[in-house]
This record gives sequence, C-alpha cells and structure tokens, in this order.
Amino acid sequence: MPMETVSTIAAVRERVRRWRAEGRRIAFVPTMGNLHLGHVSLIETARRHGDRFVASIFVNPMQFGPNEDFAHYPRTPAQDARMLTEAGCDLMFMPDVAEIYPNGSDRATRIEVPGLSSVLCGEFRPGHFEGVATVVAKLFHIVEPDAAVFGEKDFQQLTLIRRMVVDLCMPVTVIAAPTVREPDGLAMSSRNQYLTEEERRKAPIIHQTLLAAVERLRAGERAFAEIEREGTEALEGAGLRPDYFAVRRADDLSDPEDGTKHLVVLTAARLGRARLIDNLQLRT
Ligand code: PAF
Repeated sequence: MPMETVSTIAAVRERVRRWRAEGRRIAFVPTMGNLHLGHVSLIETARRHGDRFVASIFVNPMQFGPNEDFAHYPRTPAQDARMLTEAGCDLMFMPDVAEIYPNGSDRATRIEVPGLSSVLCGEFRPGHFEGVATVVAKLFHIVEPDAAVFGEKDFQQLTLIRRMVVDLCMPVTVIAAPTVREPDGLAMSSRNQYLTEEERRKAPIIHQTLLAAVERLRAGERAFAEIEREGTEALEGAGLRPDYFAVRRADDLSDPEDGTKHLVVLTAARLGRARLIDNLQLRT
C-alpha cells in the first residue's frame, strides 16, 4: 500500500477509523521531522506493534521558548517523506500550525505534568514540557493509536508522556525505543547539525562521561552528589556548558536512595549553538 500524506485532522480520522473498522492495530510515531537513523529505529519499533503505521511531522511552536530555535529548526519534508515511504509508513500527517492550534499556540489549553514538567530540562526550558505534553495529547486524540513510540534519548519526555497517559486514562501503550548512537557514541539528534567540526569532535565526551558515572554506580558507589559534581566538571573541562548532570530514579526522576534499583544518569549540555541531551539507565 503506497504511503498517503495528509494535512488535516479530518483526513487522519477518516483513514484511521476505516482501518480500525477492519480490525487493524494502529502504531504511531510523533516526530518534528528532519528524520535520521534514530527515527528509523522508532519506526522499526512501531512496525512491531501495529499493522497500520502513522507518523506525524510537526514542529510544535508551543514547546520552543522565545529565544530557542523554532524558526531555524531544520525542516526537510521531501527527505522525510522518502524515509517514511522506505520504512513502510502508511500515513504521514503533516499539519500546519493553524490545524493544531486553531486559537494560536499561546492561548491554547495546555497540559502540565506536576513534578516532571519543571525539573531537569524543564528548569532550563520553562514551558517546554507543557508544550510537549499538550501536542502529544492532541496528536493522540487525532490519531487514536493503540501504541505510540518515543525514543529513550528524550528520557524526561518519555517519562512525562507515560505519566500523562496514565493520569488522563488514555488508551495508548507507550513504547520506548533505545537511543541510536554514532560510532563514537554521540546520540543521534537533529541538533547535532548545529555543531562545527571542532565541536563535533568534542561531543562524544557526553556519552563517555555518562558511561563513567554508570560504571561507578555499577561498582556500588552511591555518593550521588559527588558523581554529579565530577560529571559536571568533566564536561566543563572539555569546553561544554552543562545545564545539569544528574543521577535520578528512572521511574519518576526523583532523587534516588542508596537502595534504588533502577537509576538513570541524565545530562544536558551546551556546545556552541547546540544544546545536547543524553542519558544512560542502570538496573542493579
Ligand atoms: O521528540 C520530539 O520530536 C517531540 O518532542 C514530539 C514528541 C514529536 C512532540 O512535538
């Protein structure tokens, strides 16, 4: 079946309701486009969880702050359509801003997930996670998927969406797809394009610093504050400007205790024009 591209909510609902009437299971991958191999892995995961597959491409203004890169965020719709076709996507939903925010994104009803919207990246990007939760809830209402796939690279986003789905009783199974990395360990991201050659050479320090922290935790160290301080210093020493380097409980991103079994080490660091995020989980 060739992939169809639609830009209206009505067209998505019509296709999806037809498939559902045929007894199909719908898998969904929301994206902001500019697809790379990291997205391909989300798509491959989605294909294992449904027999009709929908992807959305929407650069969501509500999740960008006033001084962030909304206007310059890379937009490559033709390349995205090619990649989705090759990945076996059935429906590509590419709405404009007015379709998603008929009253403007500033005045739209919004969703806050207490305790998760405002910590870590939320502290440095006020309003970002309200924007993410709001647009994902809207997309879930439009597509009505059985399963939706999110990357573990955006671990805070994944945790927040899981909580939102439970709190709002949404009938969607949230699936996590592992982070895809370049051969030198850098997590794939559209924002890697902002790096100069020299910055790109430095960027793998983020993964290396996370690995070093995980090794210490795996060896039984539980001096979390010290691990965080040394991680921050290692990034600063390499010329990055970390917003945070934090060890948290993986289930709710709260502070861990000595006996916490599932940990995550998360960081966000600025390098030139780019703000890069990454994380590693550890189960003991
Ligand atoms: O991860 C992203 O690309 C975005 O935050 C998402 C989930 C598509 C919402 O705009």
